[in-house]
Amino acid sequence: MGRTTSSTLLLTLTFLFSLSSLPSPSLSDSTDAFVIGGCTQEKYVQDSPYESNLNSLLTSLVNSATYSSYNNYTIMGSSTQDVVYGLYQCRGDLSMPDCATCVARAVSQLGVLCAQTCGGALQLQGCYVKYDNTTFLGVEDKTVVLKKCGPSVGYDTDAMNLRDAVLGSLAGTSGLYRVGGSGNVQGVAQCVGDLSVEECQDCLSEAIGRLKSDCGTADYGDMFLAKCYARYTTGGPHAYSKAHSDKYTNDGEKTFAIIVGILAGVALVIIFLAFLGKVFGGNGK
Ligand SMILES: *[C@@H]1O[C@H](CO)[C@@H](O)[C@H](O)[C@H]1NC(C)=O
Ligand SMILES: *[C@@H]1O[C@H](CO)[C@@H](O)[C@H](O)[C@H]1NC(C)=O
Repeated sequence: MGRTTSSTLLLTLTFLFSLSSLPSPSLSDSTDAFVIGGCTQEKYVQDSPYESNLNSLLTSLVNSATYSSYNNYTIMGSSTQDVVYGLYQCRGDLSMPDCATCVARAVSQLGVLCAQTCGGALQLQGCYVKYDNTTFLGVEDKTVVLKKCGPSVGYDTDAMNLRDAVLGSLAGTSGLYRVGGSGNVQGVAQCVGDLSVEECQDCLSEAIGRLKSDCGTADYGDMFLAKCYARYTTGGPHAYSKAHSDKYTNDGEKTFAIIVGILAGVALVIIFLAFLGKVFGGNGK
């Protein structure tokens, strides 16, 4: 084992540690907590015009989030193959600084999650970011991306009536961002800003209908469609940001942290062996 091997491993190790420091802030701040993400199969060529267009798109998204809760960009290339489309949407209740922080986190996590893929999308608790080389801007999309139903509360008709009333009020309000609450039941709904008023209404009606039909008497429900989501919780006024985000944030992040930990451990062992090899190799001569 030569010097080159050891320094390569050290580099890897540094990389792994910097990776492991990425998701940790989200554990303490629910706005940045991971909800769902996905990447396209297709990859782009490194150092290609597409890559530089994508980088300027992502920079534009992060900058724009300091003054607007929604924006879309299309970065034209010299050839049609290099065009990249993207948008972000912050949750309607976030302040501009929080929106900017959330989008910056999402963009940096996408860099890890979707390394070199042509398209990627990431939903955090507080914001959504998506980019691709085919346009999806202004296109309504009601594909179910994530469905989560909590444990059933049984036949508590009062709770379910309240839940249905809150969901009904979400459907009956207007706007991209909607909140409703009654008793311990809280609801929230959000459309991506590229939808028209009618499309947003249509998308949310679908999400809310599915929450009622699919989540039955669950104590909470999350229905994320491609361009809108609706969620409710029956667990008390503050259950939303706390218990809720923890429930499905931790699993993924724990696994991630464990994997990173294992990889770092393996790397350390290899470096130690390389070191031993060097010492003994040196003694032998
Ligand atoms: C997107 O990129 C993939 C992979 O490079 C390519 O196969 C596909 O044709 C591209 N789509 C468009 C619309 O350029
Ligand atoms: C994209 O952004 C432009 C400029 O801000 C705006 O005029 C356009 O309506 C947006 N398109 C969509 C689909 O949101």
